[in-house]
Amino acid sequence: MRGLRIEKPGRPPEVAADLPVPAAGSGETLVRVAAAALGHLDRSVASGTFPRNPPPPYVPCGDGAGRVEESERFPRGALVWLRGGGLGVTRDGVAAEYAAVPDEAVHLAPEGVDPMLASCFFSPATSAWISVHELAAVRDGQRVLVTGAAGAVGSLAVQLASLAGADVTALVSREERAALVPGGVRTIVGTVDAGPYDALIETVGGPGLPARLDAVTPGGVAVIVGYTAGARLELDLPSRCAHDVDLRFLNMIRRAPQAFALADDLLVRLSEGELILRTDRYDLAEAPAAWQALTDGRARGRVVLEVSVDR
Ligand SMILES: NC(=O)c1ccc[n+]([C@@H]2O[C@H](COP(=O)([O-])OP(=O)(O)OC[C@H]3O[C@@H](n4cnc5c(N)ncnc54)[C@H](OP(=O)(O)O)[C@@H]3O)[C@@H](O)[C@H]2O)c1
Repeated sequence: MRGLRIEKPGRPPEVAADLPVPAAGSGETLVRVAAAALGHLDRSVASGTFPRNPPPPYVPCGDGAGRVEESERFPRGALVWLRGGGLGVTRDGVAAEYAAVPDEAVHLAPEGVDPMLASCFFSPATSAWISVHELAAVRDGQRVLVTGAAGAVGSLAVQLASLAGADVTALVSREERAALVPGGVRTIVGTVDAGPYDALIETVGGPGLPARLDAVTPGGVAVIVGYTAGARLELDLPSRCAHDVDLRFLNMIRRAPQAFALADDLLVRLSEGELILRTDRYDLAEAPAAWQALTDGRARGRVVLEVSVDR
């Protein structure tokens, strides 16, 4: 079968046509995969710097969607999305025509949902929801700054904060990214302004983060979600104490049970168009280019691979 293979961590994925079709063991479901999402976690695992990776050579991608081929638990032909159970982290992922998936990682999707959307919504939608509603506890009328606002988590955070009644400002790195920000919110390019903001949803990190923390009003909150532009932050503790901004961190691994509980509702809202998640779609054969676009920050939405035609 066709699929992606990572020969060993540290190497990018290659497209293979000779992968063996896996057999579903006890407690597993065999899925004909329609779509697989490429994300930053898949890149980290493949880099070899992540604490865990599947035994190489392995099939990457922890998120996907497709139809049940063989299962003791799910009806044959049912549309499902795939996530959890160590997929793509401790065992083969789903970027191949067939995947044998632990039943706990198989989730029924409403018929009619686009498999490309079902494959990729989980992480950004649940991360944005928890960041906005729980960690930042955004309320009506608050001023909220979202960085990486053209990205997957950022664009959903913009929408959810706006729906909560916040006055949202989107920050993007370059002019051409501004057009990708949803919902006509105020957008600034490059460096943050003086604010002040009641809450910051930070998906980018990097050297501009201290200035963005300064733009949050004392008593406000900064939610650290991601660090695509840089993973280090040096803090001057006396001025941080004086400035008194509540620094909160998102850990979606710890919050997985909550995320799964939120997922069905978010998938329906996305499928019905109440929320928008832009997808950057590639054929499986174009996976190396997709991987590079994600690495370089050129992705124009969640990167999704079409693995096989859904039927
Ligand atoms: N803490 C958690 O549990 C958790 C959960 C989910 C996601 N995350 C993390 O959150 C971050 C955002 O995820 P996402 O899915 O929204 O990612 P994304 O859509 O690929 O990127 C978000 C934004 O980051 C900037 N960016 C991306 N790649 C870059 C690069 N190579 N150099 C500089 N800037 C870059 C871009 O901002 P511009 O558009 O402004 O250029 C992009 O819009 C990632 O680090 C992800 O790992 C963490």
